[in-house]
Amino acid sequence: MVTIQAIRGMPDLLPDACNIQSQLIRAAADVVESYGFREIRLPLMEKTELFARSIGEVTDIVEKEMYSFDDRNGESMTLRPEATAGVVRAVIQHSLAHAGPQKLWLAGPMFRYERPQKGRYRQFDQFNVEAFGLAGPDIDVELIAISARLWQRLGVTDSLTLELNSLGDGAGRQRHRDALVDYLRAHADVLDADATRRLESNPLRVLDSKTPAMQPMLAAAPQLPDYWDDESRQHFETLTQRLDALGIAWTLNPRLVRGLDYYSRTVFEWTTTELGAQNAVCSGGRYDRLVEQLGGKPTPAVGFAIGVARLAALMEARGVTAQPVADVYLAALGEAAEAEAVVLAERLRDALPGVKLVVNAGGGSFKSQLKRADRSGAQYALILGESEVESATVQVKPLRVRDDQQAVAQAALAGTLRERLQASEAAA
Ligand code: HAM
Repeated sequence: MVTIQAIRGMPDLLPDACNIQSQLIRAAADVVESYGFREIRLPLMEKTELFARSIGEVTDIVEKEMYSFDDRNGESMTLRPEATAGVVRAVIQHSLAHAGPQKLWLAGPMFRYERPQKGRYRQFDQFNVEAFGLAGPDIDVELIAISARLWQRLGVTDSLTLELNSLGDGAGRQRHRDALVDYLRAHADVLDADATRRLESNPLRVLDSKTPAMQPMLAAAPQLPDYWDDESRQHFETLTQRLDALGIAWTLNPRLVRGLDYYSRTVFEWTTTELGAQNAVCSGGRYDRLVEQLGGKPTPAVGFAIGVARLAALMEARGVTAQPVADVYLAALGEAAEAEAVVLAERLRDALPGVKLVVNAGGGSFKSQLKRADRSGAQYALILGESEVESATVQVKPLRVRDDQQAVAQAALAGTLRERLQASEAAA
């Protein structure tokens, strides 16, 4: 019989990979909550119109990457390709911003019908941070500081570079668009099919085209920074001065425009050279017009999203591994010892919350139980046989350091283990 496989581009996350991603999500939640952000959870599916109106009709995502279908009522639904549109929808629907600024985070799967390759999937997790009601640039700085702190926590700082740009705003942005369209028309002969199509509908996106033959022409195209209005320039300067004061290195990429239409002013991307073509690990920016555009009161907003699988790949490249299944493995031989092991284990769990304790199940000789103990990654095996039951002791056997096993009174076991585990953690 032909076995059924997972859908292309929608990878299973097996326990080791899952564990590394969980370490990442926990660290990220921890960091953002220390800055006062709160979690929000939203449906994976929204009305198609929400994405068309926010991300933009003439974007890769809306034109060709959405998983859309008509539900049984004939209404078009879409699996979310990103989270910002849904967060804005919820903020408006529940009048969240009326109560003052909102700092929110959200983690979960997104869906895009892209061509799957390393680092690019059709279902992938993002960790999103979104702040509403704050015009910045202080909050822009905070978001970037949060990401930098997270890289530090995860040990990937050296792998990432921060690229910044500002799309400007209002009349300056319009003047840049007009100048860009004139320039691109004058160079129509070097535009590829995509750029020719985008020329009238979404000329800004032509700027981040990767087509080699267009690069010299694009390098000389009208640059956004030359069209910034005074306020946008001031915003950018304050942002970058404060990043300098925090010691966060950045580079201006005047051609960074992002693939979604809702941005204005600050846009940024943390990129790496270690993951091949899919080099953006975290991207975001300001979307000051989006709340109003979707029917809410004008509310400035800014946010970013981390590609969880890409960041996890960087962590792995830096030596982060899945955490062991167990810290302590309890082996017991014989009926009486097995019965006692269950009671002893529950007592240890009461005394040592947070310690991962696995009790051998399914019997086996001491030799085979110790093999399982080793495979579990545990620091210590506890051995309970007939003579230990009689003397109310346990043999404590170190599995990761060369040291003798030692008989410990059951009554003193929790204290001994606590000390030993703390010592091995400190040594690691
Ligand atoms: P985005 O650049 O489309 O922005 O995606 C954010 C991040 O998600 C990317 O930097 C990348 O790491 C990851 N990512 C995107 N597509 C894929 C894929 N097919 N497979 C794996 N990872 C992927 C947004 O989604 C905006 N909503 C970010 C934002 C939040 N802007 C303001 N707030």
